[in-house]
Amino acid sequence: MMQDKVTPPSYYKTDYWKRYSKVYDFLTRLLFTPFGGEERFRRKFVDAANIQPADNIIDMCCGTGATTRLVAGKLKGGQVTGVDLSLDMMARAKEKVVGMPAVFQQASGDNLPFPEGAFDKAFVSYGLHEMPTPIRGEAIKQVYKVLKPGGVFNVLDYNLPQGIGGLGIRVFIRVFEGLPAYQMMQPGVLSGELKDAGFEILNRRQRLLGMFQIIQARKPL
Ligand SMILES: C[S@@+](CC[C@H](N)C(=O)[O-])C[C@H]1O[C@@H](n2cnc3c(N)ncnc32)[C@H](O)[C@@H]1O
Repeated sequence: MMQDKVTPPSYYKTDYWKRYSKVYDFLTRLLFTPFGGEERFRRKFVDAANIQPADNIIDMCCGTGATTRLVAGKLKGGQVTGVDLSLDMMARAKEKVVGMPAVFQQASGDNLPFPEGAFDKAFVSYGLHEMPTPIRGEAIKQVYKVLKPGGVFNVLDYNLPQGIGGLGIRVFIRVFEGLPAYQMMQPGVLSGELKDAGFEILNRRQRLLGMFQIIQARKPL
């Protein structure tokens, strides 16, 4: 039986993620079925990152490892480190990457236990909106610190679709995800937070009717 070695920040609900770990992959697949499938969407996100075989990569808030696995599949000589607070979510991730160059570390995004400049690239998928604004700001600063100069942070998260067509989704998000997540999903907020930490925004794309955003942000040379 694995034991939590890290004390999570007060907002974090260890038991919630323990329960969710049992159904997370199933529910995610279900959610994406009308949009051509979850893996297809995730694969485009990972493919756009131009991963080199020898890269050393961090996947923050790796959860059950769906992004970690796709990243690991591109590596030869390199390694991906999945970081999450939930040992239960990471237990699912470990099952997905047997024999692949992936390791896991329990840690909070706002306190990453890696040296400055340790990684060539960073990923986070659907993780940043889980954090209250100050913790998210600190987590973004931590990713900045552990990236090499020139390293790119690849971010995939929800986005609030604008206009009357997106009203239902905006209400849903406000009710079920809470205010910090709702605020982060407003246009330009997340890219602004990345810029505040020192990143240059290479591009920001909206996907699937504006419900998702993909940002590539680089630590300057
Ligand atoms: C919605 S899941 C996303 C999982 C995965 N990245 C994916 O694409 O499916 C969010 C994950 O963020 C993790 N998480 C939330 N706050 C965190 C923090 N401060 N530090 C590390 N992980 C955190 C949760 O434990 C959970 O596994």
